[in-house]
Amino acid sequence: MAGTCFFLILLSLALFSPLAVSSASYTDLSAGSSLSVENPADTLTSSNGMFSAGFFQVGENAYSFAIWFTEPSPTHNLTVVWMSNRDQPVNGRGSKLILQKDGNLILTDAGKSTIWSSNTVSNSFTKLILHDNGNLVLLTLQGLALWESFASPTNTLLPQQPLTRNTKLISSRSLTNYSSGFYSFYFDNDNTLRILYSGPELSSIYWPDPWRTSWEAGRSTYNNSRIAMFDHLGSLSASDNFSISSVDYGAKLQRILKMDADGNVRLYSRTQQGATWVVSWQAISVTCKIHGICGANSWCSHVPSFGRKCSCLPGYEMRNKVDWSYGCQPQPAGDHFNLSWSCTGTSTAARYVFGFMHLPHVEFYGYDYGFYSNYTLERCKVLCLELCNCAGFQYKYAPWDGIHNCFPKVQLENGRRTPGFDGDLYLKLPKSILSSYNASAEESNYACSDKLTRPLDRTYEKSGPNGSVKFMLKLASGLGGAEIVCVFLVWYFVSRRTGREREDSEVVMHGYLHAATGFRRFSYSELKKATRGFIEVIGRGGGGTVYKGLLSDQRVAAIKQLNGANQGEAEFLAEVSLIGKLYHMNLIEMWGYCVEGKHRLLVYEYMEHGSLAEKLSSNGLDWKQKFEIAVGTAKGLAYLHEECLEWVLHCDIKPQNILLHSNYNPKVADFGLSKLLNRGEQSNFSFSRVRGTRGYVAPEWVQNIRITSKADVYSYGIVVLEMLTGKSPAESVQAIEGGEETHEKMMVTWVREKMNGAFANAESQKGDDYEQDRLEILVKVALQCLEEDKDARPNMSQVVEMLLHHENN
Ligand SMILES: *[C@@H]1O[C@H](CO)[C@@H](O)[C@H](O)[C@H]1NC(C)=O
Ligand SMILES: *[C@@H]1O[C@H](CO)[C@@H](O)[C@H](O)[C@H]1NC(C)=O
Ligand SMILES: *[C@@H]1O[C@H](CO)[C@@H](O)[C@H](O)[C@H]1NC(C)=O
Ligand SMILES: *[C@@H]1O[C@H](CO)[C@@H](O)[C@H](O)[C@H]1NC(C)=O
Ligand SMILES: *[C@@H]1O[C@H](CO)[C@@H](O)[C@H](O)[C@H]1NC(C)=O
Ligand SMILES: *[C@@H]1O[C@H](CO)[C@@H](O)[C@H](O)[C@H]1NC(C)=O
Ligand SMILES: *[C@@H]1O[C@H](CO)[C@@H](O)[C@H](O)[C@H]1NC(C)=O
Ligand SMILES: *[C@@H]1O[C@H](CO)[C@@H](O)[C@H](O)[C@H]1NC(C)=O
Ligand SMILES: *[C@@H]1O[C@H](CO)[C@@H](O)[C@H](O)[C@H]1NC(C)=O
Ligand SMILES: *[C@@H]1O[C@H](CO)[C@@H](O)[C@H](O)[C@H]1NC(C)=O
Repeated sequence: MAGTCFFLILLSLALFSPLAVSSASYTDLSAGSSLSVENPADTLTSSNGMFSAGFFQVGENAYSFAIWFTEPSPTHNLTVVWMSNRDQPVNGRGSKLILQKDGNLILTDAGKSTIWSSNTVSNSFTKLILHDNGNLVLLTLQGLALWESFASPTNTLLPQQPLTRNTKLISSRSLTNYSSGFYSFYFDNDNTLRILYSGPELSSIYWPDPWRTSWEAGRSTYNNSRIAMFDHLGSLSASDNFSISSVDYGAKLQRILKMDADGNVRLYSRTQQGATWVVSWQAISVTCKIHGICGANSWCSHVPSFGRKCSCLPGYEMRNKVDWSYGCQPQPAGDHFNLSWSCTGTSTAARYVFGFMHLPHVEFYGYDYGFYSNYTLERCKVLCLELCNCAGFQYKYAPWDGIHNCFPKVQLENGRRTPGFDGDLYLKLPKSILSSYNASAEESNYACSDKLTRPLDRTYEKSGPNGSVKFMLKLASGLGGAEIVCVFLVWYFVSRRTGREREDSEVVMHGYLHAATGFRRFSYSELKKATRGFIEVIGRGGGGTVYKGLLSDQRVAAIKQLNGANQGEAEFLAEVSLIGKLYHMNLIEMWGYCVEGKHRLLVYEYMEHGSLAEKLSSNGLDWKQKFEIAVGTAKGLAYLHEECLEWVLHCDIKPQNILLHSNYNPKVADFGLSKLLNRGEQSNFSFSRVRGTRGYVAPEWVQNIRITSKADVYSYGIVVLEMLTGKSPAESVQAIEGGEETHEKMMVTWVREKMNGAFANAESQKGDDYEQDRLEILVKVALQCLEEDKDARPNMSQVVEMLLHHENN
């Protein structure tokens, strides 16, 4: 009965809809009829017009029978959601989709061979219908579904389309090549939902994190119903207890879940037909962690505003000039080398032929020959030279054990370079090749491009009243500049996810909006609702006010309303998206933004464990924790400074802006805001506002010197000093405020006092040698960072180096 009713509705729609009148497409295909590849109008359209099915061109004179969203997206033309014959496209002439009288649906190539078939039989009349949900169904007259496209997904799921024990999503080969690729999203034999890389030579699972058990990853292996599905609202759940909500949870017009060609599973949404798809969730946030992405003997790195980048290891070259998935091979031409050289002969012979190239912060995952704890570098080198198939080794420092561990690698796979990784790779290469490389050769890949380097170039007018008044004004304008440019803000934080990293991926390049996890645009009303009308203030500063809010997906956020940001929308978006791409475990994470009329808001993760300032004032930190905080903060800043991002100077480093995560892992807050606030707009600045920042500001702010990242180094030095002495510099500055002393003298005096204090304190707090060691290095680092001459200060990566490797010196 329902079937007949449905049929009648379809019939009436067919009679009265403009689609049918134009006879451009059909609403169904009845037994005995066919769709032809030569006639582009030969398509089936769902009754709501949302989906179409027909021949889709996948290459030159190559077609697949497919289902797509009728309305193209501006960047993607048609969004295909299903294909019958992705690996065997048919000819552009004579090919047909035929619904035979016996109830079998077949696809023929050039009128001859059958490429694909539904393998169905029916002795009653059948009909092919494209439902409003995108499901192509072969129905009997009784309304029984003989076959449906939902039961054989390709790389995409639609809402309510189940992924089952019998189905998997297999990525396309690339964005333009629709044939089956290397990545699949499926239920494994232990009932767990996983992502598998199955490349030409190797295969490995990389999601959930392979080093965690299913249980640790929050998965259950006991429910063998093996079903995963997502709904229109954007929540995905699976029988292994995996579940997520998209960041834009709530009714959206269209959503798809896709196993993308780059190895990530993403949930996309769009609010209206024909709009651009926006990523609202993705499985892997650090896209360089996806296996096979750059192939063997290469590493993946993330370049801001460009995306993911693959590079061959020194001495290696791309195997296939256009496709990174084939990885890299030893360079041929004269220098061609073969690791088996070390198998013949003794280690002395190998030592004669091979040497090592040091690649800092490069990690290769898996394929270890073994694990050798507490090895010296020399011992690890000998070990690798003696192993005939050792291609290099990972050498990693375990800071709190004070030892180095050695991991010889038999294959170099899944390589990535990230400033957050504390280990190094030593690559085994013939000495002939080593000598042709300069020590810095590998760094050349990361030379800053002009486009990325945008140092803040700010000088202050030398005019105005003279004498002490002039000094006060200079100090005021300097600090005020710092204040307006780099905002004062306190907020408290938390994060449920420790290792969660966000990185932008190349998808952005291909026209999707932000691919980063959760990074998205919010509407003003949404944020108003989240903060219940902006009532709970958790921080206030020159740049804006911070409110606590609860997002619709139940995440607690710190929402900052900017006051000084009155630049245009496009400019604001450009800057915000750059900041949104910065990811480091020692930087606070930005989840999104809002730009609407005059409103400019930023949405950050909320940290509820408090700031360093609070912990210092309550004396709640031991030396080990202080050391970790110093190291983590330095790493976060080094990332900002070193990754060609000097324009994201922090400029407001102080204990209030260093927020604490679990395990005293610090996260630096409020970076990058200088670009969002209008620098010219200093009219509303008042001296009293400067208070929070005073004392942390480098001397060059009040001199007529260009501000560089070394200003941050100075402020960092003050923070370390404050950790050592427990005294806030603000107090000291206030004491001198009314005096006639020059700024320079004031600073020097103050620093010297602080230094004495630091040493005295260190003396009085003798712990074991271990602590003494760390204390000394902290004092040393602080002293160097506080050099008056900015060129005499170390840069942040040198600071990290000093802190981590001091016992080697
Ligand atoms: C979209 O279609 C236009 C015209 O058919 C074509 O020129 C363009 O290359 C297509 N773009 C993509 C990304 O396929
Ligand atoms: C797509 O990739 C497959 C598998 O690598 C390859 O055989 C095929 O030639 C490619 N097709 C196009 C149109 O490049
Ligand atoms: C298994 O998972 C399915 C789907 O999530 C759920 O409906 C069912 O209750 C689960 N079974 C058990 C025994 O937990
Ligand atoms: C599934 O997840 C819920 C919370 O998301 C948790 O309470 C429950 O214990 C989990 N079940 C299993 C079997 O892990
Ligand atoms: C390396 O040398 C071994 C033995 O000499 C040989 O079997 C192997 O094919 C060589 N490998 C390459 C890549 O040339
Ligand atoms: C590491 O090795 C050195 C020398 O071999 C030894 O003195 C030290 O105790 C070892 N450290 C640990 C933590 O095992
Ligand atoms: C590499 O080293 C050679 C000599 O060893 C030198 O001439 C050249 O300038 C160096 N190149 C770089 C980029 O440092
Ligand atoms: C400021 O001092 C300079 C010399 O240092 C002098 O030439 C100038 O006239 C003074 N300006 C005022 C306004 O006093
Ligand atoms: C930091 O200093 C080291 C050593 O002088 C140098 O190699 C590195 O390039 C510097 N980094 C930056 C961003 O200046
Ligand atoms: C200056 O600040 C006050 C309140 O702090 C505000 O009412 C006023 O609009 C601001 N003026 C400008 C130009 O931003």
